[in-house]
Amino acid sequence: MYEANYSEVSQFVFLGFSASRPVQHFLLAFSTAFYVIIVLGNLLIVFVVTFDPHLHSPMYFLLANLSFIDMHLSTLTVPKMISDLYSGHKIISFQGCAVQIFVLHVLGGSEMVLLITMALDRYIAICKPLHYLTVMNPRVCILLVSGAWVIGLLHSVAQLAFVVHLHFCGPNEIDSFYCDLPQFIKLACTDTYRMEFMVTANSGVISMGTFFLLIISYVFILVTVWKRSSGGLSKALSTLSAHITVVVLFFGPCIFVYMWPFPTVSVDKFLAILDFMITPILNPAIYTLRNKDMRTAIKRLSIQLLNLRKFS
Ligand SMILES: *[C@@H]1O[C@H](CO)[C@@H](O)[C@H](O)[C@H]1NC(C)=O
Repeated sequence: MYEANYSEVSQFVFLGFSASRPVQHFLLAFSTAFYVIIVLGNLLIVFVVTFDPHLHSPMYFLLANLSFIDMHLSTLTVPKMISDLYSGHKIISFQGCAVQIFVLHVLGGSEMVLLITMALDRYIAICKPLHYLTVMNPRVCILLVSGAWVIGLLHSVAQLAFVVHLHFCGPNEIDSFYCDLPQFIKLACTDTYRMEFMVTANSGVISMGTFFLLIISYVFILVTVWKRSSGGLSKALSTLSAHITVVVLFFGPCIFVYMWPFPTVSVDKFLAILDFMITPILNPAIYTLRNKDMRTAIKRLSIQLLNLRKFS
């Protein structure tokens, strides 16, 4: 039934960063290097947390889950962008575009819920330390992580349910390097006013609400830490500032893109770089360079691996 609706447009063209040749070469080198670091760094975190029993705690499990999502968020958009920059052939099929939008919102929605879970984890660890181990037990952890995925999935299905009714009849140029709802809806020939409202309501309000919730909870935790002002202060501060940086950089672009989904000047694509290339690099950067437990675990694992090779 929907087939007939969108048969007129079978592919979309990305305008990408239509700049001069040298700028494109720079972008190609920059995004390739970043992507390699993103994949290796996040894989390292997932690997170390999975295989080092010292890191089998809720905080690190959640961190590994965040790395897993970040890596996929990048993989969903950056390799396509790299290949487009390389070949100059910037086309995506209708189905490809729909899949990108769908997966993007599953991952994005899950990441938002996961960030709330991480804030909750820090809140209990810092403000209710005596209850930490009983509240954040492995079962609760798995429940929270599965909850994040289910909510992401529901959000994405709800979002896409509005979009399947759209009618495309000609314009197919997307002023970006990936498909997302605001860009996609802009191309539809049907009256999109209601649709724009839905996108703003669903994605925009959710990102804004989650953002303020997170900022308030971090301020609350910081005040608690500051009042107590005991030995753990600097350690808590470094963990919390890392979380807050990730939250601000992740939500900033989301809020902008979805609260003002149809701006006249397209800055969306530049902001999107923050979400697909900068936040995914922050986790590995922050946690492998600044976190002592993580660094020790990496050393321990590499020594074990070296020994394995020596004796085999
Ligand atoms: C995600 O979190 C769950 C629950 O704590 C954990 O069992 C799982 O190993 C984590 N996933 C990754 C990729 O680390």
